[in-house]
Amino acid sequence: MSIVLAGHGLVKKYGSATALSSVDVEVGERDSLAIMGPSGSGKSTLLHILAGIVRPDGGQVLLRGERIDTLGENRLSALRRKRFGFVFQFGQLLPELPAEENVALPLMLEGTPRGRAVEQARRWFAPLGLDGLEKRRPGQLSGGQAQRVAIARALVVEPDVVFADEPTGALDQTTSTEVVRLLTSVTRDQGAALVMVTHDAEVAAHCDRVLQVRDGRISNHSQYTAA
Ligand SMILES: Nc1ncnc2c1ncn2[C@@H]1O[C@H](COP(=O)(O)OP(=O)(O)OP(=O)(O)O)[C@@H](O)[C@H]1O
Ligand SMILES: [Mg+2]
Repeated sequence: MSIVLAGHGLVKKYGSATALSSVDVEVGERDSLAIMGPSGSGKSTLLHILAGIVRPDGGQVLLRGERIDTLGENRLSALRRKRFGFVFQFGQLLPELPAEENVALPLMLEGTPRGRAVEQARRWFAPLGLDGLEKRRPGQLSGGQAQRVAIARALVVEPDVVFADEPTGALDQTTSTEVVRLLTSVTRDQGAALVMVTHDAEVAAHCDRVLQVRDGRISNHSQYTAA
């Protein structure tokens, strides 16, 4: 399996506190990795470093073999927009825009004209079970529908990696199962890898592998057989 994203010897300190100490992680083509662990263990810090949002104090982050942690801020933010997609717990959709324009936004930021961007955005509605909801504003969507719109927005740029931090954290169990199923399957179909932080073992079990983080270190690295 070819490695899409790797972190080697990652260290992050906040003042005298060490949030991550010497973490190694590799994510393969179409691989999905769940990051679990107690609150404050360093899960979000690890995700943010891999995604080029936070810079490590030690170690390296490589995207298809190229170091990204040393890129300047402009190149790094362009790389994040083009090659990564993001799904967060909530509050990521712009309330005044219809769902299809929320999905189209990353394309428009890259210079695609609005009409073409919206047309491309609409293609993601059927695979995510969102047919007919294109014109709804986020306030007119259920929590699960809003998260599926956020997934469409993460995928519309056809990224190399989708990063999700507690994407089902605000959903009930039935809805979160539905959302994580779609997140893992549609991401894989698109050809992207997935790195997801979750507290929920049932959600994590939809990923190929689970990484346990404890006190800023990897405590366990398990393989799930595909369900
Ligand atoms: N910007 C920051 N400044 C100072 N300390 C921080 C900062 N971000 C995170 N930390 C600290 O680093 C440690 C790891 O935080 P992190 O957010 O990665 O935990 P987490 O595993 O995602 O927790 P949770 O499950 O609660 O989201 C914690 O002790 C946290 O207080
Ligand atoms: Mg967190």
